[in-house]
Amino acid sequence: MVEDLKRKLLLVLTVLLLLSSAQAGSTDRLSGHQCTDFQTANFLRGSKLRVQFLLFTHSSPSCGELILADDGIKNCSFNSSLETKIIIHGFRALGTKPSWIEGLVHAILHSSQVNVIAVDWVYGSTAAYPSAVENVTLLALSISQLISKLLALGVSGTSIHIIGVSLGAHVAGLVGHFHGGQLGRITGLDPAGPKYTRASPEERLDPGDALFVEAIHTDADNFGIRIPVGHIDYFVNGGRDQPGCPRSISAGYKYLICDHMRAVHLYVSALEHSCMMVAFPCASHQDFLNGHCLDCVDPFLFSCPRIGLQEQAGVNMKKLPKEVKVYLMTSPSAPFCVHHSLVEFHLQKTRNTVTSIEITFFSNSTKDTAKITIPKHQEMGKRLLAHSVPLCQINSVTLKYLPKSHFWRKDESFIVGKFCAAPLPLDSNRTTSCLPWNLTLPSKTDISYKLPTACA
Ligand SMILES: *[C@@H]1O[C@H](CO)[C@@H](O)[C@H](O)[C@H]1NC(C)=O
Ligand SMILES: *[C@@H]1O[C@H](CO)[C@@H](O)[C@H](O)[C@H]1NC(C)=O
Ligand SMILES: *[C@@H]1O[C@H](CO)[C@@H](O)[C@H](O)[C@H]1NC(C)=O
Ligand SMILES: *[C@@H]1O[C@H](CO)[C@@H](O)[C@H](O)[C@H]1NC(C)=O
Ligand SMILES: *[C@@H]1O[C@H](CO)[C@@H](O)[C@H](O)[C@H]1NC(C)=O
Ligand SMILES: *[C@@H]1O[C@H](CO)[C@@H](O)[C@H](O)[C@H]1NC(C)=O
Repeated sequence: MVEDLKRKLLLVLTVLLLLSSAQAGSTDRLSGHQCTDFQTANFLRGSKLRVQFLLFTHSSPSCGELILADDGIKNCSFNSSLETKIIIHGFRALGTKPSWIEGLVHAILHSSQVNVIAVDWVYGSTAAYPSAVENVTLLALSISQLISKLLALGVSGTSIHIIGVSLGAHVAGLVGHFHGGQLGRITGLDPAGPKYTRASPEERLDPGDALFVEAIHTDADNFGIRIPVGHIDYFVNGGRDQPGCPRSISAGYKYLICDHMRAVHLYVSALEHSCMMVAFPCASHQDFLNGHCLDCVDPFLFSCPRIGLQEQAGVNMKKLPKEVKVYLMTSPSAPFCVHHSLVEFHLQKTRNTVTSIEITFFSNSTKDTAKITIPKHQEMGKRLLAHSVPLCQINSVTLKYLPKSHFWRKDESFIVGKFCAAPLPLDSNRTTSCLPWNLTLPSKTDISYKLPTACA
C-alpha cells in the first residue's frame, strides 16, 4: 500500500516537473531571443519571492524577454526613448499565470508604441492572501530597483506608467511612494480592499503616489476597495455589482471573481475599441442615476474623464483635484461602452401620488429601458437611460404609464405631460429636445413616438 502511494506521488511529481519545464523556453523567430513565460507556483515552491521582469515590445508582443538582474536592461530590446508601462498582477490563489495578462499586453501594444514590462511575482502571490500581502514591500523594493536602473539609463520618471491589478495596485502605490510621487502615472484596476481599506495612505495606493493616479472600481463590496484612492476614481455601475456577472454562488469561481476582474476587461476593451467610456463626477451612484450629475463643469472645467490612455484621462486642467468620484454605466459584455441620456417627464398637473413611467429607446437593433419616478406633488421626474448606440440613432421612444393601484383606491386612468431627452454631457445651456406636444399616456399601454434627433 505504502509503496503504491509513493509510486503515485513520484508519478505526480514527474508530471508536474515536466509541465513546468515545458512552459519555459520557446524561441521567438523574429527577434532571435528566448521567450520566457510566467512561472507556475506548485507545491514544490520554496520560500523565495522569485520576481521576474518580462519585457514585451511592438516587434514581439507575444514573446516575453526576461530582463536579467544587473546589466540585463542594457542588453535587451528595451528602448529608452519610448514610454514604459509596468504591469503588476495581484494575489494568485492557485499560483497560476494571470489569464488576462496577454490580452492586456496586446491591447497596450496595439494602441501605443511603448515598452511593456510585466512583473511576474506568482511565487510570492500565492497560498494565502495575508502572506501575499506580507510580500508586497519586498516586491515593491525590487520593482523600484528596476525603475532606478531605467532612470539611470536616461528614461524620464514621467514616462513611466504602472498598471496594478487588485493587490498589484497597492504595490504600484508603494513603488510610486519610493519614487517620491514623481512617476508619471498609476492606474489601479479594482485596487484590493481586504487589509487596505483602513490602511494609511503610505501603505496603500493614494493620489500622492504619482503625478496622475486613477482607479477603476468594480467590486467595492467584496475584493475591491470602496474608498477613492486616486485623482480620479471611476465607480463603474456604482462600483459594486457588474451587469452580466452571475449573482448566484452556483456559478462557482466566476461568481467569486467576475465583478473584481471586470475592471481589467473594461480597461482592455477601452484600449482595443474606439468607443468611449466617459464618466461624470457625482456624489453617489443614486444621484447619478437620478439625473443630478449631467456634465463635467465642476470640478473638471467641462472636460469629462474617460477610461483609457489619454493624458490625464483626457481631463483638460493643469492641477487635478484629488479623489474625485466619477460614475458611468456599462453594457453587460465587451466592448461595454454605453451612451448616457437624460430622460424627463413633466406632468401637466401635479398628482398626490408617486408617478412611474417606463421609457424605452429603440434603434434598428437595440432596445434599452429606464423608469422615471415623479415624486408626489412634484411636476417633474428624471432618470438616466444607458443605450448602446448614440442618441441620434434612436428611432423611436416608447412611454408607458404604470399606475399605482391600491385595492381601496384606483389611480387615474391616464396622465398628460411632456417628454424630453438629452445626451450627456449636457451643453452649457442645458438644452434638451422635447416631443413637441402634450402627451396623453393611458395606463399600462405602450405609446410609441418618433425621436427626431439628427446625427451631427
Ligand atoms: C546580450 O549580450 C550577449 C553577450 O554579450 C550578446 O551575445 C547578445 O547579443 C546581447 N543581446 C542583446 C539583445 O543585445
Ligand atoms: C526606439 O524608438 C524610437 C522612437 O520610436 C525609434 O526611432 C528608434 O529607432 C528605436 N530604437 C531602437 C533601437 O529600436
Ligand atoms: C512570501 O512569498 C513566499 C513565497 O511564496 C512565501 O513562502 C511567504 O510565506 C510569503 N510571505 C512572506 C512574509 O515571506
Ligand atoms: C435603420 O434602418 C433604416 C431602414 O432600414 C435605414 O434606413 C437606416 O439607415 C438604419 N439606421 C441605422 C443607424 O443603421
Ligand atoms: C447657448 O445659448 C446662447 C444664447 O442663446 C447661444 O448663443 C449659444 O450658442 C448656446 N450655446 C450652446 C452650446 O448651445
Ligand atoms: C400643454 O399643456 C400646458 C399646461 O396645461 C398648456 O399650457 C399648453 O398650452 C398645452 N400645449 C398644447 C400644445 O396643448
